[in-house]
Amino acid sequence: MQSIMHASHHIFLCGFMGSGKSTQGKKLASLLRMRYIDLDKHIQKLENKTIESIFETLGEKHFRDLETKYLKELVQEKNPKIFSLGGGTVCFNNNIEFIKSSGILIYINMTAAALSERLKKSKQNRPLLKNIHPDEINNFIEQKLKDRQLYYTQAHLTIEGINLTATDLNNAILQFKKHNEKK
Ligand code: S3P
Repeated sequence: MQSIMHASHHIFLCGFMGSGKSTQGKKLASLLRMRYIDLDKHIQKLENKTIESIFETLGEKHFRDLETKYLKELVQEKNPKIFSLGGGTVCFNNNIEFIKSSGILIYINMTAAALSERLKKSKQNRPLLKNIHPDEINNFIEQKLKDRQLYYTQAHLTIEGINLTATDLNNAILQFKKHNEKK
């Protein structure tokens, strides 16, 4: 029943690297029995390259254009999906406008301190972090999060990432839809 209620919309999860977009997206997709897309994984598969190697050999601008291209292709396929976006997807190429007009955009919010803790362990395979000195990582994340919050906070819904469950996410979506249907 609940999955039918989401049936006409794509659901997009945005937020900083390490905020749990992929973990939550996968769980929500299985709860709602919807198709799941991890945008980074999709790009890697279709380009047959890792995100790191795209950044390294072709540059960030090229990666951002690929992100936009595949996002648009997938959204235009129509059948509703749950997307885990990359940490920067909503911040480039006016993607945020396109995303918000194609479904429900949810921001998984987490403090810079919590993100730093999580990202210290996985910084090596993240092109934006791998060259940052360990002593500088907290400041870097704090600043970048501040810059990106301009975009993230434009999401339809913001939800706290710590101890988040797929059921919490689903309830927030249902509540949002109910509220907006009344208008
Ligand atoms: C990026 C985040 C990454 C990936 C790329 C750039 C960013 O995705 O898209 O490395 O700009 O924040 P995750 O948020 O899934 O790590």
